Amino acid sequence: MAKKENKNMPNDSMEKIVALAKRRGFVFPGSELYGGLASTYDYGPMGVELKNNIKRLWWKYFVQDRDDMTGIDGGILLHPKIWEASGHVKNFKDPLVECKKCHHRFRPDKLKDASKCPDCGGEFTEVKMFSGMFKTNIGAIEKEGIEAYLRPETAQAIFANFKNVLDSTNKKIPFGIGQMGKAFRNEITTGNFIFRTLEFEQMEIEYFIAPDSDWQKAFEAWVEYIYGFADLIGLPRQNFFNHEIPDEERAFYSKRTIDIEYNFPFGQDELWAIAYRTDYDLSAHQAASGKSLEYFDDETKKRFVPHVIEPTFGVDRTVLAILGQAYAEEMMPDGEQRIVLRFHPRVAPYKVAVFPLLKNKPELIAKAREVYQDLKKDFVCVWDERGNIGKRYRSQDEIGTPFCVTVDFDSLEKGDATVRERDSMKQERIKISELKEYLKNKIEK
Ligand code: GAP
Repeated sequence: MAKKENKNMPNDSMEKIVALAKRRGFVFPGSELYGGLASTYDYGPMGVELKNNIKRLWWKYFVQDRDDMTGIDGGILLHPKIWEASGHVKNFKDPLVECKKCHHRFRPDKLKDASKCPDCGGEFTEVKMFSGMFKTNIGAIEKEGIEAYLRPETAQAIFANFKNVLDSTNKKIPFGIGQMGKAFRNEITTGNFIFRTLEFEQMEIEYFIAPDSDWQKAFEAWVEYIYGFADLIGLPRQNFFNHEIPDEERAFYSKRTIDIEYNFPFGQDELWAIAYRTDYDLSAHQAASGKSLEYFDDETKKRFVPHVIEPTFGVDRTVLAILGQAYAEEMMPDGEQRIVLRFHPRVAPYKVAVFPLLKNKPELIAKAREVYQDLKKDFVCVWDERGNIGKRYRSQDEIGTPFCVTVDFDSLEKGDATVRERDSMKQERIKISELKEYLKNKIEK
């Protein structure tokens, strides 16, 4: 359940987004062929493009654009001792009750009536602690292999490689390490489509600072920088809310946490977060591994275990926020309704669709193909020659393609084409030789 309902969205907007996501190839229910696997999803042809655009923009903005950042790509399988040292084996647990009759499990704090099972009315067991980590076995023989975990956060591979990064680069504190990749959690409360799933992607930064530095200042600077990313991917700032997490609710490793909440179609809830993890992780790994994770500051001649500020982002929740923000139903002047995804062109799966006006005129097809092949070198493009132009526009609107280029008979004579913009639906004649420049300016604006 969302923390607060979104009063600005119609009640059925989540269902509509879920239906569109499936119909147009953004997100499919996981393992549908075999009846589905709860709380898992697969990304389709449009979804993978959208997701990759988000990840690419994130990597550029947070890692490549900043001199004080670098990146790694750590493993999903890490030594189980890492999860012992990090505190996850002990603390990454939820209190659950199990129904004695149907064996469904619930979080007692989420139950309306904690005395009987909402599914079958059965009696509950005592509250037990269940681990949120997925276990697996390394080795051919289950009993002889070692038990490992699928990582529940990407962060630990960064801590475990802190020394390697330091030794292999010329980074000086303050600096950060970014990483993106899959994380896995055996979530009990799931739902709201791709908001909370068993397998998801994170984009995380561990930003290392000196213990005596002004961590509040660094923390605030990161919060502001994070909002620059919201601007970049087209999420309006007025849809965000910084939720300061009180002492008693913070994760075991954090001294300050802000949940960066967003007004999703189903309500307001956590999209991203930022935490001050102190030296909790590096000190814990230093103690458990017996190897020094200290940093020596050449200038101050001080030796210390760095402290950490951690901005963290869920890719899938970002996809959901963008889909919710972009989705619109509009009445057209001709009385027809159109569904449009108003993506920022930077995240749109396709940037340009190219059409020949008619599909049975070889000279039109040849010219349109030439334009398409050339635009393809610079933009992700799609070709469509089915149905009439109006239908093709509707089809592209529904997947959020910001520009459609139509090649007609005038194009053959005058060397220009019609460019139609998704949101305003305005059409302009542009010289084919100037198309790339025109589109580039619009897409990168
Ligand atoms: N390393 C810190 C950390 O993992 P978290 O708040 O537990 O912190 C970070 O997770 C982000 O990962 C969340 O803000 C959210 O975007 C995403 N996330 C967490 N659990 C998720 C789930 N079950 N499904 C989808 N995204 C999830």
